[in-house]
Amino acid sequence: MIQPLSSHDRVFVLTGAGVSAESGLPTFRGADGLWRGYRVQDVATPEAFRANPEMIWQFYSERRKRHATVMANAAHFALAKLEQALGERFFLCTQNVDSLHEQAGSQRLVHMHGRLMQTRCSRESCRTKPFADERLYMQRAEIPTCPQCGAMMRPHVCWFGEVPYSMDRIFEQLRICSVLLTVGTSGVVEPAASFVRMARMNRAKAIYVGPEEPANRAFFDAVVLGKAGEVLPGMVKELVG
Ligand code: OAD
Repeated sequence: MIQPLSSHDRVFVLTGAGVSAESGLPTFRGADGLWRGYRVQDVATPEAFRANPEMIWQFYSERRKRHATVMANAAHFALAKLEQALGERFFLCTQNVDSLHEQAGSQRLVHMHGRLMQTRCSRESCRTKPFADERLYMQRAEIPTCPQCGAMMRPHVCWFGEVPYSMDRIFEQLRICSVLLTVGTSGVVEPAASFVRMARMNRAKAIYVGPEEPANRAFFDAVVLGKAGEVLPGMVKELVG
């Protein structure tokens, strides 16, 4: 049984690919997580971009194309409802680069792994800001260059070996939350896999929702097995009525 929240509770929600699975987006480590025979983890690296930017842009362009055809599901809407009920006592951190939380109405959120629909300069020291971009780049000649420094543009996503975004804000919210609700993430990719330990150090209660136990299961107080779109609407009702 999930206890209703008190007026003092602060909820930190962490979501992973599983929250978008029912919208039709493949998870990373699921059976459909391969792209042209590559593991996605092998495509999503700065080295892969340097070696073959065209291939990396093809990968992200195909994801952009797919993204345009999918819709937020009941799990995204349930989390937006939870935010409406809690206001500033709610914080959502997603590892997903899709925009389905925003589509469902979430506002207090950060994308720690970046955003599929944004592009930025590939030169670390360049100050050009990421910008909204839905275009597809399937050939090397189409890949834009930075108007400031001339370097090649890249997708605004965090690759393996890079530091995720908004970490200061995330650590602050982990420090003050009293409930950590984690949804649809396998619990193997750092630093997100350690958020549950950090929240528990500050005595937050930790709940996991997904069809299978995550790798970091030992740190959760409660694991509710099931699909996010089926579990979350009822759970949000129990939490906030
Ligand atoms: P994974 O593919 O590792 O895990 C997806 C999780 O979602 C699994 O634990 C599934 O059991 C669960 N799942 C599947 N269907 C679900 C459903 N309907 N409802 C709820 N859960 C469901 O994806 P992530 O943990 O998100 O990083 O992966 C973490 C990071 O690794 C990603 O952000 C990405 C990836 O490489 C970067 O790109 C930097």
